[in-house]
Amino acid sequence: MAQTSGFELGTEGLRLTRRALLVRTGAAAGAAALGGVFAEGRRAFAQEQGFPGVASGMRVISRSPINLETPIPQLRTWITPDDWFFVRLHLPGYAQLNRDTWQMTVDGEVGQPLRLGWAEVQRFQRVELTAWLQCAGNRRGHFEPKAAGGQWDRGAVGNARWAGIRLRDVILSTAPTLKAHHVAFEGNDPHGDAPPYVRSVPIEKALDPNTLLVFEMNGQPLPVLHGFPVRALVPGWVGSANVKWIRSIHVLDQEWTGPYMKDLYRINLVPMNPANKTFNFAQDFVATTVFPVNSFFTSPTTGATLPAGPTVLSGVAYAGETTIAAVEVSVDGGAWQPARITTPGTAYAWYQWAFSATLARGSHTLAVRATDSRGRTQPREALWNPQGYFYNAWDVVTVQVS
Ligand code: MTE
Repeated sequence: MAQTSGFELGTEGLRLTRRALLVRTGAAAGAAALGGVFAEGRRAFAQEQGFPGVASGMRVISRSPINLETPIPQLRTWITPDDWFFVRLHLPGYAQLNRDTWQMTVDGEVGQPLRLGWAEVQRFQRVELTAWLQCAGNRRGHFEPKAAGGQWDRGAVGNARWAGIRLRDVILSTAPTLKAHHVAFEGNDPHGDAPPYVRSVPIEKALDPNTLLVFEMNGQPLPVLHGFPVRALVPGWVGSANVKWIRSIHVLDQEWTGPYMKDLYRINLVPMNPANKTFNFAQDFVATTVFPVNSFFTSPTTGATLPAGPTVLSGVAYAGETTIAAVEVSVDGGAWQPARITTPGTAYAWYQWAFSATLARGSHTLAVRATDSRGRTQPREALWNPQGYFYNAWDVVTVQVS
């Protein structure tokens, strides 16, 4: 099966540059290289956007490729409306597919390759799952020193009700061979001479009953920018694994070796010095997989002015493939105090929490941290990495009380 390599990608789009190739082999100085390889996130707050199926008022990180962030007030409901759900694309275009002519192939390490259309997909058992979906770069803008890529705030995450079929059922119907160790999803994005959008997951995650091929989001067919007609849903895992507009599923004996696996979405396992400018993503970093525990404020937002007296702070918490055990808030550096869980989540659906505080006049610093059911607590500082993934430090907002 043809795999594409030799390309380097910026988090805002494809760039095939000599400098990028040098970075890939670890031969270039990082500061200069990051400037050349990654486009800075373009910040704009457009009123009229004209993106299909998208509410006006989304924060535009970039227009081409389309990258849109959910404003924090739209994260205050348990289910994020699909027109307010963040959009993350890599390539300048997106797939506009006809459900009746769309087809998906399943090939590779299988005894019986498959070609499925919409009608065949509907023959598998329908399942539903409420799950959050988050981009690896969510909260990237909070890293210090800055990491390369779009400077997302907290809104590259949302929680939706999905419906579809189990990937497991599809794979098992192809009689996979004993060499079936990874499963790659290939997207239908128009990609010209650039490599296609492909991301793989290990077979254990592919066969997990909660890993789905979904065709509905919040009770409606998937919106076009979210992968109509069928996308992967790999709950708890890095957003990039949730491939949209599925064209093919490749069952493989090894991890996919294209640039979205070997150059992007890779992270260091141990702390690294941000001043270290020479690195080799393919060799020294590992593919991102399960998200660490995270939480943040949805109210108030930073810089808000509140009336003196009792007030309710609130937000969301979520944790990879496990549940949330506790959410705690600290006011002005004081002791951590337990917040109330107001909407219980699951391993895959996010939790909502609230905390009652009484704030006197002046400036206040509020912090929140969550702990998952395996006892892992959000750290004070996130693990710095050059591409700015998996930011999960305590969330801190400052407010004025008058
Ligand atoms: N699938 C395709 N085909 N093309 C893409 O660019 N982006 C991925 C993933 N699936 C992408 C894709 C990334 S990085 C993320 S975070 C999620 O889609 C975002 O899903 P959403 O845009 O539906 O919120």
